[in-house]
Amino acid sequence: MSLKQKVSCLIGAVFLAFLLAGCGDQTKDTGAADQEEKKEEEKVIGIIGPMQVEIDILHSHMEVEETTKKGELTFYEGNLEGQPIVLVKSGIGKVNAASAAQMLISDFEADVLINSGVAGGIHPDLGLGDIVISTKTVHHDMDETAKDFKPGQIPYMDTRYFEADKDLVKLAEKGTKGLPDYVDVFKGPIATGDQFIASEEKTDWIYETFDAYVVEMEGAAVGQVAYLNEIPYVVIRSASDDAGEEAAGIQENFVEEAAKNSSHVIEEMLKNL
Ligand code: ADE
Repeated sequence: MSLKQKVSCLIGAVFLAFLLAGCGDQTKDTGAADQEEKKEEEKVIGIIGPMQVEIDILHSHMEVEETTKKGELTFYEGNLEGQPIVLVKSGIGKVNAASAAQMLISDFEADVLINSGVAGGIHPDLGLGDIVISTKTVHHDMDETAKDFKPGQIPYMDTRYFEADKDLVKLAEKGTKGLPDYVDVFKGPIATGDQFIASEEKTDWIYETFDAYVVEMEGAAVGQVAYLNEIPYVVIRSASDDAGEEAAGIQENFVEEAAKNSSHVIEEMLKNL
């Protein structure tokens, strides 16, 4: 083989190696890498409230820089207590909450998710207006027990409870400073389902099965989206009713007070960030 032939063989081999490297496994782990890159930047806090009353106070206190309508949802970008936030009213239920959460991450670059609102208190120690900070969330209505999965277990997912971020939980605890004296604060599991619970029997079952402090209709959906995207989250809820037979009537009277309490915690958290 002539020198010229040898050189062109070598160039060919190098080219082939480049080609093969490029054609290898193209899967990218964007979650962790993106988080790493953004470490030094200011974190964008995505805040989800299911109903208007659950976002009203935060919306009125924030400095809105941009309002964006995407489909049925309206996103408010701006600042609250000096922190960049994006606020959205998701609507009630798990699909609404999950969609809003994913949009906050994918379209508004939220690095952290906070779900704020009201809930039905099911722990015996819990009174109306009391605050619960999620340590974890679970879907109380996910049920494949007929196939030997545990209540709340999503088949073939490696977690049954979506763990809240420990630093956010600590921050939320600090954020309870300044609440009215009658408001007690609890930390614990929160149970989520596409059901407004108004039954003592159901309440007892959820409490006994999941050790949950409150029931609501969005938290675990936000937790699951945070888990899938590998970003931190926490749920802050205030009890607007007891999830018993009279829950709907009680909620009507207490929803504003409860929403005020959970909004207070969110604002204090942002102050301490
Ligand atoms: N949110 C507020 N109260 C609730 C209840 N009783 N059940 C489900 N979600 C709620």
